[in-house]
Amino acid sequence: MKRIAFLLLAVATVAGVAAYRTRASAHANEDTAPIFLTDVPPGYRDWRLVSVAHEEGELNDIRAILGNDIAIKAYREGTLPFPDGAIIARIAWKYVPSEENDKVFGRRQSFVAGSTPSWGLQFMVKDSKKYAATGGWGFGQFDKDGKPNLPEAVFKKCFPCHQPVKDRDFVFTRYAP
Ligand code: HEC
Repeated sequence: MKRIAFLLLAVATVAGVAAYRTRASAHANEDTAPIFLTDVPPGYRDWRLVSVAHEEGELNDIRAILGNDIAIKAYREGTLPFPDGAIIARIAWKYVPSEENDKVFGRRQSFVAGSTPSWGLQFMVKDSKKYAATGGWGFGQFDKDGKPNLPEAVFKKCFPCHQPVKDRDFVFTRYAP
């Protein structure tokens, strides 16, 4: 009888420890919830155009900003904040002169999309619960193989820099009609 009682106690103790561990690790996951994306959102290259932009200086790129269906609908209807599921993609290419096109024009005037720089593919994904700490937006930057290509510390800089457009839900790009 004593042995059975001991056994029961042992089982209860093990179960208790296991339950505690599960709770502890769930809590740890909450604390370290990622503010950045780990995977490239599928199908982004088929999304619709929001606008284009050109950065000078060191970046010297030309970029297209695309939105998935939820993002485009929100843009067109002026819905703010963007609803969960909205994704904005920003694709950049080096801004290069086109000799081929310039020959046709007879002077230097054509600039086109060149190679893809390391910052070529960025995303903002709206999930107000998962990314609550960063305005509901998860930020991502990926290399050609679809791997996040910045250290975690750098991803922490994405959201603070988007603060000036807080009243547009942290999105700089305006819809170009
Ligand atoms: C130095 C400030 C700064 C930092 C840091 C920054 N951004 Fe931005 N981001 C901007 C500005 C300004 C624009 C608009 C640029 C333009 O269109 O010329 C922009 C645009 C974007 C866009 C297009 C949607 C929009 O808001 O217009 C995405 C997507 C984006 N950034 C993602 C990121 C990600 C991911 C990171 C972190 C890896 C990041 N940004 C870090 C300033 C910043």
